[in-house]
Amino acid sequence: MTLLVTGGAGFIGSNFVLDWLADAAAEPIVNLDALTYAGNRQNLAALEGDARHVFVHGDIGDRALLDRLLAEHRPRAVLHFAAESHVDRSIHGPGAFIKTNVEGTFTLLEAMRAYWSALEGDARAAWRFLHISTDEVYGSLASDAPAFTETHPYQPNSPYSASKAASDHLVRAWKHTYGLPVLTTNCSNNYGPFQFPEKLIPLMIVNALAGKPLPVYGDGMQVRDWLFVGDHCSAIRAVLAQGRCGEVYNIGGWNEQPNRDIVHTVCALLDELRPDPAGPYARLISHVKDRPGHDRRYAIDARKIERELGWRPAESFETGIRKTVQWYLSHADWVAAVQSGSYRDWVATNYAARG
Ligand code: NAD
Ligand code: DAU
Repeated sequence: MTLLVTGGAGFIGSNFVLDWLADAAAEPIVNLDALTYAGNRQNLAALEGDARHVFVHGDIGDRALLDRLLAEHRPRAVLHFAAESHVDRSIHGPGAFIKTNVEGTFTLLEAMRAYWSALEGDARAAWRFLHISTDEVYGSLASDAPAFTETHPYQPNSPYSASKAASDHLVRAWKHTYGLPVLTTNCSNNYGPFQFPEKLIPLMIVNALAGKPLPVYGDGMQVRDWLFVGDHCSAIRAVLAQGRCGEVYNIGGWNEQPNRDIVHTVCALLDELRPDPAGPYARLISHVKDRPGHDRRYAIDARKIERELGWRPAESFETGIRKTVQWYLSHADWVAAVQSGSYRDWVATNYAARG
């Protein structure tokens, strides 16, 4: 028995692969990743020499490669993490998001349909395609509106969320039309080890440590629900093990906070763990021009996964954010390595015009 993971060198995918293989009795993983700017083999360094982890450098849009991998490894499930994942990049260059998130997911689904259709008996009945998606597909909530349930209408507002919504619709249609056994999860904002410092929390940590401005978009009162990445991984394991075929599960941490509070919490932890002689890190906070089309609020109603699968987050925000800041402080080499020339180009592209 083998799992095929796509995008397992990225932030959530690598956390999932490491968590899964931490169990000595776990099934092996074939990890297919294109190693875009967001994919990093260093995230998986702890698995060097572990025969249960087979890394394949390749694209989910490469049908011939997918067919070869399926024939060789005969996975009993696919966990589809691979995506272009950053909203700001989708605003600057939406093409890559359509290519990977829409066309790539389509190619993957077609390869899986051909493979699954040829299975028989128990192998066919037990086979699963687990699609990892986002709460952003539901759009933005008014401040007093109830949190997103699984039946909330799709109203994506950014090229990223529109491309993920399209992929969710493809996955749904492949179940409805062809019977492909799929599961979909829609999760809120993750944070934790190995997150690329283009996203809010790691960006604030690395900028603060470098004495650079901490760029808060607009008034900083946009609300997100924040979940520690290890809790997202445990939810995915629960859905894979016991999720009802064809169902959608929302995953969240019951932890809504405005960005401004998140940034102040990061600053306070750094003040405690790595005090700056120049003064409190919050002095570096700088309000900059807002993200175009910026969604004001996301909130996840996670009662379905809690009720049906008994899943609950293990970390509170206080414990999770402390672990995260400590991780970045103790992995200076990783942080330095990811701040390559292309990272610096992205920072210049995204922040230069924000003033
Ligand atoms: P990430 O950007 O850190 O990693 C994406 C990975 O996919 C990278 O390793 C990259 O190399 C790989 N990849 C990209 N295009 C590929 C292609 N064409 N073929 C093969 N591999 C490719 O993303 P993440 O934050 O780890 O997110 C993983 C998944 O979870 C995404 O589908 C995202 O939409 C979803 N998600 C993310 C969050 C979050 O807060 N980060 C929350 C909910 C859902
Ligand atoms: O909700 C789930 C989604 O969360 C995932 O699907 C996405 O892949 C993931 O990137 C994340 O999207 P966000 O746009 O919410 O994450 P990001 O870290 O980019 O931004 C979080 C909030 O912080 C958002 O309101 C924008 C704001 N922000 C972000 C950056 C990078 C700032 O104020 N300043 C910044 O420099």
